[in-house]
This record gives sequence, C-alpha cells and structure tokens, in this order.
Amino acid sequence: MAIQWFPGHMAKARREVTEKLKLVDIIFELVDARIPVSSANPMLDEIIQQKPRITLLSKADMADSKMTARWLEHFANQNRHVLAIDAQTGTGLDKMVKLAETILKPKRDRMRAKGMKPRAIRAMIIGIPNVGKSTLINRLAKRNIAKTGNTPGVTKAQAWIKVGKSMELLDTPGILWPKFEDEEVGYKLALTGAIKDTILNLQDIAVFGLKFTEKHYPQALMERYQLTEIPAEVVGLFDHIGRLRGCLRAGGEVDYDKTAKLIIRDIRGQKLGPLTFDIL
Ligand code: G4P
Repeated sequence: MAIQWFPGHMAKARREVTEKLKLVDIIFELVDARIPVSSANPMLDEIIQQKPRITLLSKADMADSKMTARWLEHFANQNRHVLAIDAQTGTGLDKMVKLAETILKPKRDRMRAKGMKPRAIRAMIIGIPNVGKSTLINRLAKRNIAKTGNTPGVTKAQAWIKVGKSMELLDTPGILWPKFEDEEVGYKLALTGAIKDTILNLQDIAVFGLKFTEKHYPQALMERYQLTEIPAEVVGLFDHIGRLRGCLRAGGEVDYDKTAKLIIRDIRGQKLGPLTFDIL
C-alpha cells in the first residue's frame, strides 16, 4: 500500500535506513523499470554515502524493453552497476549475487591476503513503496529457505535470508520516499501505481497519461481505443473513449471521472502494452 509521506515519515525512514546501512556491505536499490528516474529517491547518494550500490530495474516485464535496454546502457555509461529484473518470474536474480561478488571482490581479496576469512556478503534492499521490494525478498527467500536467524553483536535483532552460498540479505527492506516536488513525476508515480489515486486529481492523471501515450506510444493508444486518428483536443479523446466504453451519465453525456478511472486502470493494467514513462 502506498504511504503518504510527511517530513516526520521521511526523517524516520532515513534514520531506519541509516541504522540498517551499518549492517551491510552492499545495497540493492530497486527502481521501477517503467520510471527508473522518477521512482528513485533523490537523496539516496547522500544517505548511503560510499556504500557500494547495485540498481535493479524492477518489473522489467511491465516496461518497454527497448527503453529498458537504453536505460541500462545509460546507467552503465555513468559507471553505475545496474541490472533489469522481474521478481515474479525470477529473471535476472542470479546475476544479482554474481555482480555483488564481483564488486566486493577486491575488498575480500585484501582480507584474504591479510589472513582473514571473509564472511558472507551482507546486503539490503532499498526503494520507494511498491517497486517490488517484498516480492523480491520473498522470491529470494523461497529459493533459499534457510533463514540465518539473528546475528549476535547487532543491537537490534535482524533476520537474514541466505541467498546462494555467499550472500545474506536483510529480511526487511529500507523504505524511502519518492520525489514529490515535480508534478510530472507525481503523474508517472500514479500511472504506475506507486502512489495512491487520492493524492492527485484523477482527470489530471488520465490527461497526462493520454498526452504521454499520444506522444510516445501513439499506435498503442489508437489500437486500444479504436482510433483512426487522434483528436486534436484531449477533451475529444476523453469523449471518444467515454462513449466507446460506455462511461456515460444518465442523460447520455460522458462521465469524465469514470472515463479517467478507466484510462488509468487500462494504463496500469498494461492494456496499452508495456510502457515506459521515463523516456531517454
Ligand atoms: P514493495 O514491497 O516495494 O512495496 O512492493 P511489492 O513487493 O509489494 O510489490 C508491489 C506490486 O508489484 C505487487 O502487486 C507485486 O506483485 C508487483 N510486482 C512486484 N515485482 C514485480 C515484477 O517483477 N513484475 C510484475 N509484473 N509485478 C511485480 P500487487 O500485490 O498486485 O499489488 P498492487 O497491484 O495492488 O499494487
């Protein structure tokens, strides 16, 4: 369920994440592959400081695969570690551990050189609500049933999940807040289901969705709503969709709220196909 964030929530979330950070060697930052920038927490760099990070583009099955490939390349060009995953089918999960091992190898080799035996890599998952953190943890936990239990020496007891031979994952994720300053980001978060409908005006979300798809995925829009051409004004598009789908008031006029809800449901439910809203 999406959380409504207030300054108090943000401060608490930040404190909790900072505490957990002390326990781990590496962070898995989950962002939604459909909005890899809009679903990122803008303060993450500052919060995690120098801790190594792997960015996971989650729900890759719901995103435009061409755009995901571009984002992966873009992030890799910025020297970031990045993978696309689908926690529901398990695609990409094997690579998570391997990449973490590769990133931490120099440090672990140094330990071995000094005669120390490195313990399992400790990792945590972090991200804004609804990006698939719990789904991923459950998926990883199911594959590797053994929970390692509480770790001695840690002030607050934390449960770890064994992932493969060389990794332990904190069983609770770090929850961060999304960016709220930017209206467009808000619409994108709403269209991907990351924030509740009640936060923004329904018709505004639907208008954004229609204009966005008209610009970037016109074919998908035309096919879904049986259009031979896209009306010049968005109200014309609302009227067409409302009539086509029977979203009418008693007098036969189009019910715009009902139509807006339907459009949002269609977009979220992949009825226009896999879409990416952060365009590169
Ligand atoms: P969170 O812990 O980060 O808050 O997210 P959570 O795992 O609860 O996932 C949010 C929703 O996203 C869930 O849908 C979940 O099934 C879905 N999801 C997670 N990972 C993937 C993925 O890789 N692919 C797809 N297609 N879906 C994924 P839900 O339980 O139906 O919730 P909702 O739809 O009511 O929000």
